[in-house]
Amino acid sequence: MPRESADGERRVALVPKVVEKLRTRGVEVVVEAGAGLGALIPDELFTQAGATIGDPWACDVVAKVNPPTAEEIGKLAEGRTLIGFLAPLTSPETIDALAEAGVQAFAMESIPRISRAQSMDALSSQANVAGYKAVLLAAEHSTRFFPMLTTAAGTVKPATALVLGVGVAGLQALATAKRLGARTTGYDVRPEVADQVRSLGAQWLDLGIEAAGEGGYARELTAEERSEQQKRLEEAITGFDVVITTANVPGRTAPTLVTAAAVKGMRPGSVVVDLAGESGGNCELTEAGKVVVKHDVTIAAPLNLPATMPEHASELYARNVSALLELMLDDSGAVAPNWDDEVLAKACVTRGRD
Ligand code: NAI
Repeated sequence: MPRESADGERRVALVPKVVEKLRTRGVEVVVEAGAGLGALIPDELFTQAGATIGDPWACDVVAKVNPPTAEEIGKLAEGRTLIGFLAPLTSPETIDALAEAGVQAFAMESIPRISRAQSMDALSSQANVAGYKAVLLAAEHSTRFFPMLTTAAGTVKPATALVLGVGVAGLQALATAKRLGARTTGYDVRPEVADQVRSLGAQWLDLGIEAAGEGGYARELTAEERSEQQKRLEEAITGFDVVITTANVPGRTAPTLVTAAAVKGMRPGSVVVDLAGESGGNCELTEAGKVVVKHDVTIAAPLNLPATMPEHASELYARNVSALLELMLDDSGAVAPNWDDEVLAKACVTRGRD
């Protein structure tokens, strides 16, 4: 496991508990010195778990969080295996460079969303962190309470929170906002989500636009559907104190759900937290990575929220990585992927220079 090189990244691909588990499968683990420091895991905890501190790039398998830089790819010899978030849909040049280097690469994003692969589903484990943290940010920026308060000085009404895009992050955001005492509502273009939203004690906002796509994901809306959706959302959004957006279509620019007019219609002091900043944002006034105030509404578009909770985000991610790695090991602990296995075949984005 190398040290992560991306700016602001504090997560790590392996944690000591997972190192112990891999050791029982016959895997020797090498950790780069100081690799765990961002997640507050000192080298000693890795060595106590059975790892050695050394050069991770010389290993058969390299486990990372973020896509490798060109320099890092240069350190991977032909025939090595790489596991990590590799952004195969948005950064095909990384995959091309890995193929050219003869590396066998597995992208966490490409693991199919099927029951058997749930333990490896890093998109879900990290989206849970983001959904939770988005609500805390909204509460922080809000000028109003989330819960209803009955005090000697009077009664405060609970905040109303709308979550647009109810995948994994959206469901966690609904659950967290509810725990803080807000009145919650969820909206998505996949109608099957309605029951999940209601089971979290939230209302379902039905705009009559359905766009279920392949593999459990949403499809991109047509131009006509898009403008209809924006118009209907503009009316609905006005009544909410907090809007959290998580809508994404894999490999595409994020849909605009909160127009500038919708922001203008919100009450002063309201908050929009846009989790789609990395793919262009769901709010027209979003500035990715920034917190801006427009029409007296705060719009926060944080990037890489999971890195702000490196301890738990790393723990969950490391379990995802080790579940995938264990699936490709033979009895002796050597890497021997069975390409008839749908999970491995789909997660593998390049098998090298063949
Ligand atoms: P995502 O991050 O790709 O998108 C977030 C949400 O945005 C989705 O619910 C999507 O329907 C919604 N969305 C996209 N365009 C929209 C628009 N124009 N308006 C409103 N909403 C829009 O989704 P995520 O969280 O990665 O989940 C994807 C799917 O994977 C879901 O169906 C989820 O239930 C499923 N899943 C399945 C698992 C399994 O093992 N069976 C595990 C985890 C997730």
